[in-house]
Amino acid sequence: MEDKKLIFSGIQPTGTFTLGNYIGAVRNWKPLQEEYNCIYCVVDMHAITVRQDPVKLRQNTLNSYALLMACGIDTEKSILFIQSHVKTHAELSWILGCNTQFGELSRMTQFKDKSQRHADDVNSGLFTYPVLMASDILAYNADLVPVGVDQKQHLELARNIAQRFNQRYGDFFKLPEPYISEIGAKVMSLQDPTKKMSKSDENPNAVILILDDKDTIIRKFKRAVTDSDTEVCYREGKDGINNLMTIYASVTGKSFAEIESEFSGKGYGDFKLAVGEAVADHLAPVRSEFARLSADKAYLKKCYTQGAEKALRYSQRIVSKVYRKVGFVDRT
Ligand code: TRP
Repeated sequence: MEDKKLIFSGIQPTGTFTLGNYIGAVRNWKPLQEEYNCIYCVVDMHAITVRQDPVKLRQNTLNSYALLMACGIDTEKSILFIQSHVKTHAELSWILGCNTQFGELSRMTQFKDKSQRHADDVNSGLFTYPVLMASDILAYNADLVPVGVDQKQHLELARNIAQRFNQRYGDFFKLPEPYISEIGAKVMSLQDPTKKMSKSDENPNAVILILDDKDTIIRKFKRAVTDSDTEVCYREGKDGINNLMTIYASVTGKSFAEIESEFSGKGYGDFKLAVGEAVADHLAPVRSEFARLSADKAYLKKCYTQGAEKALRYSQRIVSKVYRKVGFVDRT
């Protein structure tokens, strides 16, 4: 790979991404490929920290992989792979776990949340999830990690683990920095715009999935919760309209001022319809590319097999050095 900074990011294999995942994360992964070396990973090993149906997990992992390609991740430019295909992640995870304190993991807010939500299955993988995430990043000595706010604490922990390892065994790991994208925006629920848009929302109208068809997308936007005002403008307290404006701005590239003048004198109905149409048109090529890729199983397989080979080759060099540093005997 050329001498550029290295970006690493991972995404859960939910099978289809929400408009929130798309605008806030995945969509920005494509332009990063021009400026950086990028390694992107579908994290199926992280997924099993909560109960998964094996048949669905397999399907969702493949769909997520194809979707990333449909969103513009180019397997020639970047390394795109499935986490469980690359054994170094689990190997490094054990070593990093031995350099992570119980107390540090206990403070992770996502662990606290998830252990409440899955109170019948507080397994140790859920607890050590951030160690595996640190391994994902450190196995490549990545410079930058694009993450949303909900993952910042985990990234901070990855830095602390790297730092501790470096103190104990001598400077080795880079301290990965968060990459905050300029264009990324947080997308809120269409039914309760004070909450983040989430695939697990029990109200399907709250969430746009990037594989939703045009009619569905328009219908969901028409039903979006707004306020009793009538003016399309970005203002404190107008959470619903602010969210729709953010979405519209990010798919059309228009500024808030342009949007306000475009809809001055028009009602919310017109605006919601325009947002729905703009989003549907923006996502149409992603949907058709996804359909094309999903129909070509052999090609997909070739891509993820090669991706795993490249990722293994890259991370193996780093993890072998870590084995040395901690005092493991050379196998050969
Ligand atoms: N934990 C991240 C999430 O749920 C996914 C993830 C796993 C990740 N490993 C990573 C993100 C490494 C960035 C870097 O969104």
